[in-house]
Amino acid sequence: MIKTVMQEAFNKQITKEMFSSNLYLSMAAYFQESNLNGFANWMRIQAQEEMSHALKFFDYLLNRNGQPCISAIEAPQKNWLNPLDCFESALHHEEMITESINDLADLAIKEGDHASLILLQWFVNEQVEEEATSNEIVDRLKLAGDSKSGLFILDNELKQRVFVPEPTAK
Ligand code: FEO
Repeated sequence: MIKTVMQEAFNKQITKEMFSSNLYLSMAAYFQESNLNGFANWMRIQAQEEMSHALKFFDYLLNRNGQPCISAIEAPQKNWLNPLDCFESALHHEEMITESINDLADLAIKEGDHASLILLQWFVNEQVEEEATSNEIVDRLKLAGDSKSGLFILDNELKQRVFVPEPTAK
């Protein structure tokens, strides 16, 4: 059975992943309203991925005979200055999530919880990818600058993203 201290920490992370999902859905709405449907598609899929992260922790707690706890989720921001501002917010958010995952891994080491550490290693790798992807889009937006055609080329690329479900801990 999972230790209470680990369960509480994982439950806090479930709340953060669900907040992330809502934040990206809010960003999807912002892009859709700006007629940038490719960006909106990318954000909508990101929201699905974040919910799958929450479920990964949820299933893991159940498998360890723990109790997932669903808490109130704070409302996300609704508006951004422009696409670059929005993706910079996404990148900063991911950097904050990376810190949170690292803190969880530190706790698992301190508590000698090897099973949790193995799960968290998946998330450590995932965060490298998440930060790299957001960073790349931030860089592309900076390169595009005020160019509308640059923005629409990127919008077309982001339209191609599809949701690939992650296997859960079940
Ligand atoms: Fe679940 Fe984007 O971190």
